Amino acid sequence: MRIRITVNGNQEEMDVEPRELLADVLRNRLDLKGTRIGCDTSNCGACTVLIDGKAVKSCTMLAVQADGHDVMTVEGLSDGEKLHPIQEAFVQKHGMQCGYCTSGMLMTAYWLLSRNKDPDDGEIRKFFSGNLCRCTGYQDIIDSVKYASELMQPQEEKLIAKEH
Ligand code: FES
Ligand code: FES
Repeated sequence: MRIRITVNGNQEEMDVEPRELLADVLRNRLDLKGTRIGCDTSNCGACTVLIDGKAVKSCTMLAVQADGHDVMTVEGLSDGEKLHPIQEAFVQKHGMQCGYCTSGMLMTAYWLLSRNKDPDDGEIRKFFSGNLCRCTGYQDIIDSVKYASELMQPQEEKLIAKEH
């Protein structure tokens, strides 16, 4: 089947098998290997991407279901060599160890912070309930998301917050 999708701002058009998973199309046809496959059963969240701005597990979505939609993968976060503030925060706050879960964590963080600029611990935990990490114990990930929210606040807001 012929599909047209926008991936990280680029228009892509290709023929796919109706049974092909979005995760496989991203990795194998578009060479976007940042999207990881950890379980293939919708449990781990390593394959999380954004579809029209909402986090989706790409191992449980057929590529044909993404036809006509906007897909963002972890490769779409940075601006060339410049890391996105969420990536910078994960580096600074040690939100990763082996890194296998990290792409999915970053995309879930992006989804959360695009909806709520200043989430509390409870909301972060709720949003990340579908993302598993074998290494970090999660606290460093929560700290990374909170630091990312600080980095993403406009400078004026930071100054106002300091004054009060
Ligand atoms: S690979 Fe998709 S949820 Fe684990
Ligand atoms: S950093 Fe290793 S699985 Fe999360």
